[in-house]
Amino acid sequence: MKRLFLVACSLMGIVSSAVATAEELAGTWHAQFETFSGLQTYHFAFDTTDGMPSAIAVVEQNDEKREVSFSDVKIEADTITFAELRKLQDREIRIEFACKLDDKGLSVSRKVGDFGSTETIATRKLPDPPPVTPPVPAVEVKIDRVIKEAFRDQFIIGMAGDVPARYSEAELTAAAKHFNAVTPENCMKPERVHPEEARWQFETTDALVDWAQKNQMSIHGHTLVWHAQTPKWFFENGDRALITQRMKDHIHTLVGRYKGKLQSWDVVNEAINDGGNEETAKTEGLRNSPWLQAMGPEYLTLAFRFAHEADPDATLYYNDYNIESGPKHASSMVLLKRLLNDGAPVHAVGIQGHWRSGSVPFDDIDKAISDYASLGLKVSITELDVTIRGESGGRFGRGPSRSGPASTEDLNRQADDYAKLFAIFMKHKDVIERVTLWGLHDRRTWRFGQHPLILDANSQPKPAYAAIVNEK
Ligand code: XIL
Repeated sequence: MKRLFLVACSLMGIVSSAVATAEELAGTWHAQFETFSGLQTYHFAFDTTDGMPSAIAVVEQNDEKREVSFSDVKIEADTITFAELRKLQDREIRIEFACKLDDKGLSVSRKVGDFGSTETIATRKLPDPPPVTPPVPAVEVKIDRVIKEAFRDQFIIGMAGDVPARYSEAELTAAAKHFNAVTPENCMKPERVHPEEARWQFETTDALVDWAQKNQMSIHGHTLVWHAQTPKWFFENGDRALITQRMKDHIHTLVGRYKGKLQSWDVVNEAINDGGNEETAKTEGLRNSPWLQAMGPEYLTLAFRFAHEADPDATLYYNDYNIESGPKHASSMVLLKRLLNDGAPVHAVGIQGHWRSGSVPFDDIDKAISDYASLGLKVSITELDVTIRGESGGRFGRGPSRSGPASTEDLNRQADDYAKLFAIFMKHKDVIERVTLWGLHDRRTWRFGQHPLILDANSQPKPAYAAIVNEK
């Protein structure tokens, strides 16, 4: 209808400024508001195309996200107005927005009930995160090369994140500068990409694959079959045959879609129980996951078969944490031997590598890599992070830290740990395919507050980074 209107206007030689600006208002805008409860980032999406304007947003604050569908959306000339109804402690509050186009971008005013209003400028691009103050202690860090170059002839160096959406330009530049592989941190997990049996959500995953390809980064798929972050529908109202079929459809569709674009996949994630003892060490020690309950131990073999059918060139991983040590390591060997005996196309083992500075099991890691290699398998460190004490001093929307930055002493000890780890990886360079850090920097990490990565909260190299590349 709008198009007809535009055609009619142009036929009549009339240019309607209201119509032209409605189009300029359309699409996504990002705005940040300092509120009494902390920084809130609104990612607005305005639809102005059909004369029935609508406005929605994803709002991020601290670690939480909420989706908002605004009411009373009106467009007048260069201004769009709408309202958010929020329940706060049993009170409904009406937040009114007025967004007006001007040469700076979109000037947004946000009026909360009777509490007054805040103004900000929304932009098309995500704003850079505010710098962290005070930064981590001023430790002189000099690097002679970026990490992906330092290891170019030995193995790939990756990062995890659901790039590029909601990452700033500066962060994306840092990601592509330091790393040559990416693992989707959450967006390829079943609950995100396949929330209902008949509904797939490929927007974020397609965008990640496009972005990685444009930046010459290889992509490691994560993860197909897991007990966590998997919707219940997979297991409901179905017998073994139906649940197997669902697994097959899931794997075929997802792996098939990115065939030739993803180099590798975590096919089964975290199938082995924690802890264990002398007795369980002799067994596969399988976790009592819904997959095991529905399909029995064969679920692993089938998952690998389905993935191989969908992309015969992809490297297929069994991925788990703490499998380098103790009874869990022994169980992983029992399990992998059985899978290989049964002809399951398992090609590699992912040692996740979520460790703590001061207690990294170096000898176990060294031996575990040799053990897996002895089975003819490749190895990657798929989710590396090494935590230390202290807080990272602010993340998206989070105020200053309470416990302050990490101490120089802790940062240096962490640097030693990272250097020792990479020395072990170098020793096994013929077996190791990739080392992936689980996050981008100390704010983009699931272990926020524990400074686990090699780039600090401002994306600057930490002592750990320097120790890895300079001592290589
Ligand atoms: C984590 C993500 O980093 C978090 O953002 C999410 O809330 C939970 O999952 N082992 C895995 C990863 O295989 O998928 C997990 O990632 C970390 C542990």
